[in-house]
Order: sequence, then C-alpha cells, then structure tokens
Amino acid sequence: MRDLFDRIIENKGPLGKWASQAEGYFVFPKLEGHISNRMKLNGKDVITWSINDYLGLANHPEVLKVDAQAAAEHGAAYPMGARMMSGHTDLHDKLQEELAEFVDKQAAYLLNFGYQGMVSAIDALVTKDDIIVYDVDSHACIIDGVRLHMGKRFTYQHNDMESLEKNLERATKMAEQTGGGILVISEGVFGMRGEQGRLKEIVALKGKYNFRLLVDDAHGFGTLGKTGAGTGEEQGVQDQIDVYFATFAKSMASIGAFLAGDKEVIDYLKYNLRSQMFAKSLPMIFVKGALKRLDMLKTMPELKEKLWENVNALQNGLKERGFNIGTTQSCVTPVYLNGSIPEAMALVKDLRENYGIFCSIVVYPVIPKGLILLRMIPTATHDLEDIQLTLEAFSAIRNRLENGTYKRLSAAVEAAMGDK
Ligand SMILES: Cc1ncc(COP(=O)(O)O)c(C=O)c1O
Repeated sequence: MRDLFDRIIENKGPLGKWASQAEGYFVFPKLEGHISNRMKLNGKDVITWSINDYLGLANHPEVLKVDAQAAAEHGAAYPMGARMMSGHTDLHDKLQEELAEFVDKQAAYLLNFGYQGMVSAIDALVTKDDIIVYDVDSHACIIDGVRLHMGKRFTYQHNDMESLEKNLERATKMAEQTGGGILVISEGVFGMRGEQGRLKEIVALKGKYNFRLLVDDAHGFGTLGKTGAGTGEEQGVQDQIDVYFATFAKSMASIGAFLAGDKEVIDYLKYNLRSQMFAKSLPMIFVKGALKRLDMLKTMPELKEKLWENVNALQNGLKERGFNIGTTQSCVTPVYLNGSIPEAMALVKDLRENYGIFCSIVVYPVIPKGLILLRMIPTATHDLEDIQLTLEAFSAIRNRLENGTYKRLSAAVEAAMGDK
C-alpha cells in the first residue's frame, strides 16, 4: 500500500508544480508598503494594478482610524463564539440592516469570508431534490458550493442565454420528477474577463421557467450601479435577484461578506448556514470597520467617480493603442496578448523590473493555450501619470513580445528563477 503522502510529494498539483520557478515572484510575491497605487516589490517601486481596493479605502485615513479604534477597544477576538451561541452583538445587527438597505433587500446576514460563505449558502439553499444551473466560468467558491450538492447540477456556457435556456428546460423536467426547485447562479461581474453576468436576460427567463437566482457580486458591489449597490442596480434588476452576495474583500477593503434577500430567506439562512453556525463570529474590528466603509460608500460618491475616471482612461488608452481588452463591462481590465508561458514570464519580469509595473498574469489552463492575459484592476488611488506610464510600458512590451525578445529571454528567465 502507498503512503498517503507519496502522491502529495510527487505531484504538487496544477499550480504547485510551477513552485520552484515561480514562487516568490510570479506567485506569492511580497508587495510591501501601504496599500495604494505605488508599492514596493523586492525593494523596487512598482505601480500596482492587481489589488482589488477599488475605492481606495484600504489606506484611507478615516478607515485606518476606525479600524485602530476598534482594535484598541475590543482586541481582535470580541465577540467570541458563533453568532448563534455567544458571538452576537447589536452592531452585527446594525451592519446587516444597513447592508440590506444599501442593496435594497429586506434583510442581510453576515459571513466571515466570501468564499466559505458562498459555499455554505449554496449548501443551505438546496436539497438533493433541487437542481442547480450555473455559469461554467463561475468563481471557485460557486464551483465548490455546487460540489456539496447531492442532487443534479447543470452548467450553461458562459453568459450564453440559449445554453441557459436549454439547461433550464432539462432542469425543469428533472425537477418535475424529483419534486424540487431550481437555483440559477451567476456572477454579477466575472472577475477574470470583466464581463457582467447577463442578469437582465437571466431574470427575463423567470417568465418562462420557475427558478430562483443567486448572484455573486464580489466585483460589482461598490463599483457598479448609480449608488454602488452593484450589478443588479446597474442593470435595473436588483429586485429580481433572490439572493444577493458580496464580499468585503474588494470595494470594502477588508474581510467578511454578506448575503441579502427577502426576510424569510435570510431568517432561514441564519439557522442553516453551516459556515456561520459552526464558526466564530466576525470580530468587531471588521464589523465596525465595515460600518465605516459602508458609510463612505454611501456618502462619498466621489470615490466611485474617481475610480471610473481611471477605469475609462486606462481602458480607452489601451484600446487607442490597439490592445485587445476583450469584452469587459466593469473595472476589471484584461489585456490579451499572444505568447507562451515562458514568454509570459519573461514579459512580466520585464514589466516589473524595467518598467515598474505590477499586474497579475493569467495563462493556460485558466485561459486557452497561447494566450497571455495581463489582468489590471484600476482603483480610485491611481492617477493619470500611473496610467500614462503603464500605457507606454505596455506598448514597449508588446513590441518586444512581437519581435521575439521574450522568446530569447525566456530561457534565461527560467534558468534564473530556477536558481532562486
Ligand atoms: C467572485 C468572487 N466570489 C467570492 C470571492 C471570495 O471572497 P472572500 O475573499 O471574501 O473569501 C472572491 C474573491 O475574493 C471573488 O472574486
């Protein structure tokens, strides 16, 4: 018999296998300094384009003050225990009420983390008789939530309404046999490519099929819609989203998340959401911190305006220079280039070392072979100089990619990374 760890030691997994070449630089890089448009990587200044601090709240002096006061008053622990047992406070309730009001729902419930919360929400919303229909490009937290489901599930092609309808037909037939219902899941904004989920078209199908809609609006909350209430508000269908989810890890620049919906549904989740029933409550630092951040979302529209000024300047600048930024409809700004993984590594090293630009790089198997995706997240902390420098750098690296420089350099980069 094999020792359990033999496989683990031999095969580190699809990402882990790159560790020796990539760790500390391409993956697990250490960005230092205050969270902002300019930070340090290995002691060098870089313009940062991969931090989801959309509204620039992470390092806002008013936010830092509230976080510090909460820490001084409560420490990191209070309240102890799960909400249901001993970890509940008036301020948890207050935050839920304010979040619900902000996203125009009857009630909301706090989650400690978005990822766990979404897994648990899917688990709580369905039984084995119910059918889940979800977008094939969904975030890992949705995929893992669906994995817990004991009943049938169908994927539909990414944002493809014909495919959704076909799967709704299949799901309806199946649900008629099992006696269950149907849960459709989409993201508000798909975080890699920046497309909005086609929520308006999805909810239009409610006229023909009986289903409930769960939306993960991690990237839409705070960035889209007139008030910042997210993708549902942006598309005018917030009232048709049955369960709305957002994390505090992006626009709110913190930790935590929430679900919002009709009071009866939230009351049910409160008593059935295993990630909250069997885990310690969100500490007061994050509760008070979230109240402050939410207040700023509501009262400082200039933050979202500045964000979009930067998004438009960056996306228009890239398009003017002939870059392919796909079909983004959000702040998420992907730049697609053609090249191999070693070329992508050489290119990113050049961008970081010689141009001082830090952005995320996505390659196969997340996107098709031969494509390189440089993913940028503009924030309210960026300025026009950051954008100009970045556009110039991108033009330069595209030339070097096209004239074969990175093909030649990639062997050397790989060797150097291997030495680290
Ligand atoms: C679409 C989406 N859903 C959920 C999450 C998970 O949220 P959290 O970081 O709060 O666990 C993320 C990433 O943060 C995300 O991008």
